[in-house]
Amino acid sequence: MSKNNIPNHVAIIMDGNGRWAKNKNMPRNFGHEEGLKTLSKITQKVFDAGVKSLTVYAFSSENWNRPKNEIKHLMALFEKAIESNFQYMVDNKIKFNLLGNIKKFPLTLQKKIKNLEEITKKNRVYNFYLAANYGSKEELVFAAETLRNSTSKITEKSFKNVFYNPHLPDVDLLIRTGGETRLSNFLLWQSAYAEIYFTKVLWPDFKAIHLNKALKFFSGKIRKFGKIY
Ligand code: IPE
Ligand code: IPE
Ligand code: MG
Repeated sequence: MSKNNIPNHVAIIMDGNGRWAKNKNMPRNFGHEEGLKTLSKITQKVFDAGVKSLTVYAFSSENWNRPKNEIKHLMALFEKAIESNFQYMVDNKIKFNLLGNIKKFPLTLQKKIKNLEEITKKNRVYNFYLAANYGSKEELVFAAETLRNSTSKITEKSFKNVFYNPHLPDVDLLIRTGGETRLSNFLLWQSAYAEIYFTKVLWPDFKAIHLNKALKFFSGKIRKFGKIY
């Protein structure tokens, strides 16, 4: 019987910022700002726990359907997030990767992302993936289109090789905060065998104790991958 202690790859759908702010009679953007603070704290806790790869869902390909003012604020926050976490990534030898279609972002943001990717690209042990303008369906269509125009045979391996980031490992533990029990177009292929943990806690309220509960949930799972134990 194989029990897992620490997941290699944790992915988080950071949901609930808007409701958190609404509960406090504050604008949604205030919730996103608090959400960013949570992200910085939780990132550190995740790597401290021994997790090697962390992916966070910050903006989906469907989030473009939100009001312009919210999108603009989120773009500005992503720039701020990169600036304020830059030194942490460098000092802790974390490789930063963007997961998604970067071309729709403001140029200043694109530059900051590329710069952080470049500076941290030699880091091997820890990986941070920012899923922004990410959509699993888009990624799968992109992969199919790329292979259709190449001479490669279509296999699981060749398919994965043309994803946004071929090095992204399969997800071991997927956490969604905010109470919804859906995947919202996030890492559909990569989560084929993920253990999925849903919590009602809204993202800005998510603390180390909640993370520990999710890790405990994971450590109690027997991962069968279709076999019998
Ligand atoms: C998640 O929080 C953050 C993003 C999608 C950018 P929401 O903004 O979806 O918050 P709720 O779900 O409306 O509370
Ligand atoms: C998923 O949250 C996307 C992110 C957390 C970035 P949403 O709030 O956009 O998801 P839905 O619309 O409730 O499915
Ligand atoms: Mg939401």
